[in-house]
Amino acid sequence: MNLILKGSICYSKSLRELATLEGGYIVCEGGVSRGVFREVPEKYSTFSVADYGESVIIPGLVDLHLHAPQYSYRGLGMDLELLDWLSTHTFPEESRYAELDYADKAYSAFVDNLKRGSTTRAGVFATIHAPATLLLMEKLEHSGLVTLVGKVNMDRNSPDFLREASAQSAYEATRAWIEQSLGKFRNTAPIISPRFVPTCTGELMRGLGELQKEFGLPVQSHLSENRGEIAWVKELHPRAEFYGEVYDSYGLFGGDGVPTIMAHCVWSHGAEEALLRENGVYIAHCPQSNTNLASGIAPIRRFLEGGQRVGLGTDVAGGCHTSIFRAMTDAIQCSKLRWRLVEQNDAPLTVPEAFYLGTIGGGSFFGKVGSFEDGYEFDAVVIDDSPLAATNPLPLEDRLARIIYLSNDSQIRAKYVRGKKV
Ligand code: GUN
Ligand code: FE
Repeated sequence: MNLILKGSICYSKSLRELATLEGGYIVCEGGVSRGVFREVPEKYSTFSVADYGESVIIPGLVDLHLHAPQYSYRGLGMDLELLDWLSTHTFPEESRYAELDYADKAYSAFVDNLKRGSTTRAGVFATIHAPATLLLMEKLEHSGLVTLVGKVNMDRNSPDFLREASAQSAYEATRAWIEQSLGKFRNTAPIISPRFVPTCTGELMRGLGELQKEFGLPVQSHLSENRGEIAWVKELHPRAEFYGEVYDSYGLFGGDGVPTIMAHCVWSHGAEEALLRENGVYIAHCPQSNTNLASGIAPIRRFLEGGQRVGLGTDVAGGCHTSIFRAMTDAIQCSKLRWRLVEQNDAPLTVPEAFYLGTIGGGSFFGKVGSFEDGYEFDAVVIDDSPLAATNPLPLEDRLARIIYLSNDSQIRAKYVRGKKV
């Protein structure tokens, strides 16, 4: 896995600083970037060069939050809010994954789509069904993408056809699934996934917290997405000061040894916002979902200025598009509406900032991921933007902006994950 890519290179150095180099070389040694150069350094002169000419080369994109079983019905029920959308569309569809034949078909289509796009890493929710979740993990492993996949947990406030029989049986099934999947794959690993507080008893969350500790696994869930949901959590846990405190009381909310992704955080503020930051929880910002389900506009500028860790998610099927480029533009557009209509102190996100969120922002959950600087894992996407060519030649950062706003999967020429072409 020693190679060099040549092309028009773009990557983030920091939230605000985009690095660009036309006709540059990125050196990959053993799956890790050795940096970007104007000329190939002497010590790498034996590495073979893939010359992509004028094409643009960027780090692979990172989708911190999406639901594989929801790919099949994206675009449906988009006139509903979260809780009605879940019971009308999500739960009936997810119940079908009890059947492996159905899961096989639906998950193949999902993985094909993810593989064709610009995403190289993802945090993925499956369903409560362990066999179908293992099948999904095998397919994702095969795709070459790096993914964390969660068998979902729900043992209350869910329909009979999509509810684990008891906290004990959910714990045992989750434990068995961890034992079957942990360390079995190169690119795919399990992540503890309580669906959200309303569908998980305290007893189940206590068990998940124990499994997290025992196996040292990461955690993903949903937080403060919708006002009705938040009011419901308050009813269920009247003594908790805020929603996130419920996860925290079971050891499922970041801190030492508990890498955690919380999707949405649209309405997080005050003590919840402080604990997110203190515990280094990753916020998966899913602007398209938040718009479709009329959940609200997350205060991403405030989060960034407050030092939160933020990445982007498509939240398929709350979001109907699987593209993180689309999530970047949605994030920018939502931030503009928030600035104009809600909070004049929260300046809109810029293109370089959104690009950072979709690469290093989410990528850092996976380690040194999302950049081409020395030491980063080598994930790259090569895009032929000639179909988008402007009448006048554009500087590279403007070509990147047009790719973010306008490109589609058909313009992807190649994709590399950890130095391997997929
Ligand atoms: N909260 C709990 N489950 C879900 C889900 O499937 N999608 C979204 N957007 N929010 C949730
Ligand atoms: Fe979600």
